[in-house]
Amino acid sequence: MAEIDILENKRIVLGVTGSIACYKAIDLASKLTQAGANVDVILTRSAQEFISAITFRSLTHRKVITDLFDAESEDPIEHIALAKNADMIVVAPATANILAKMKYGFADDALTATILATTSPIVVAPAMESNMWANNATQENITTLIKRGVKFIGPVEGHLASGGSGYGRFESVDSIISGIQNILEQTTDLKEKHIVISAGGTQEPIDAVRVITNRSSGKQGYALASAAVSRGARVTLVTAPTALPDPPGATIVKINTAREMLKGVTDAVKDNGDALIMAAAVADWESDNQSKNKIKKTAGENTMSISLKQTPDILKAMSDEKIIKIGFAAETENLIENATEKLKEKKLDMIVANDVSSKDSGFNVDNNRVVILDKKGSKTELPLISKLQVADHIMDRLSELL
Ligand code: CTP
Repeated sequence: MAEIDILENKRIVLGVTGSIACYKAIDLASKLTQAGANVDVILTRSAQEFISAITFRSLTHRKVITDLFDAESEDPIEHIALAKNADMIVVAPATANILAKMKYGFADDALTATILATTSPIVVAPAMESNMWANNATQENITTLIKRGVKFIGPVEGHLASGGSGYGRFESVDSIISGIQNILEQTTDLKEKHIVISAGGTQEPIDAVRVITNRSSGKQGYALASAAVSRGARVTLVTAPTALPDPPGATIVKINTAREMLKGVTDAVKDNGDALIMAAAVADWESDNQSKNKIKKTAGENTMSISLKQTPDILKAMSDEKIIKIGFAAETENLIENATEKLKEKKLDMIVANDVSSKDSGFNVDNNRVVILDKKGSKTELPLISKLQVADHIMDRLSELL
């Protein structure tokens, strides 16, 4: 087992659902409590068919939640308080049914409502019959949940309650505790670090109504901000206009142009910055002669030209700052060569290269396929995964560098 003290004083919400393996959740609740965690158990209705609240209450010395609408409860919206204050939500054992409900965002009992209301890490230890596990419906639900950042521990292969043997057996309690400890360590590895992240495509005005911009959606930068927040970092997100909701927990600095982004990034880095991740697609050109009014068409002229000048290079402007610098290289050809060149030229610690010409990754989609290059010459190719998963990989690397 990893260090036990990471669990000390951690607030763990343990959701127990109706699988025969739920008797093992008693041992899990007990061991987590013994390791110093405050364990709030939520039992679903079907879990209560197998085990009673009083068992968990006796072990955790805390109230056990069995109902979304408990008239006796001190806090009328108990599940929201739990969802907000938890360091982690652990669903163990998790049935096929709860995975389906999590995928669709149900909130029809205390556990699903808590899961929907939380921004804390969610860990799931499934237990079910092997055909239910292998079913495409379950596998598709799991794929979606993993993309959203839910972590899975198990199941394993072995004896099943049905009498047979196969994949779907609840992972051992000790392995689940190790998994929880590792994830908790990971979720605090950027504590007290100030990470500055830029996102979105800057907009450079030509006149009062027109801008030069690009197709960046901001999704990768926002995913990075969420990943950094969930690992305990103080995050400043300097963002060009996007259609995305503000990521909870980050300080948001909204800008339009490359020059404004330079100022936003510089101010944030000067405020005890530890790292800068430039995920923004900064426009390379701005108008040399911006018009205050809308430029009108001229009768008889079919063409018009605008004189452009280069915007400041934000990463280069940061080259003297003693921080970790991570850039992105959006390329349509010669991915590795161009990215390596940018890594050197911009004096970066790491660069994340992505081919933006492919339809399934890069600009404006939820997935990304990237290659991470660092200044020591290492090269890591990641498969097509969600932008949140890419963000998590980058945070792992950043955490090593810091
Ligand atoms: N970048 C920056 N300031 C700029 C332009 C880009 O800091 N004015 C950053 C981007 O945020 C990214 C990295 O530099 O992290 C590479 O950006 P990219 O657009 O791929 O490259 P450019 O430097 O603009 O070079 P080119 O357009 O010639 O590919």
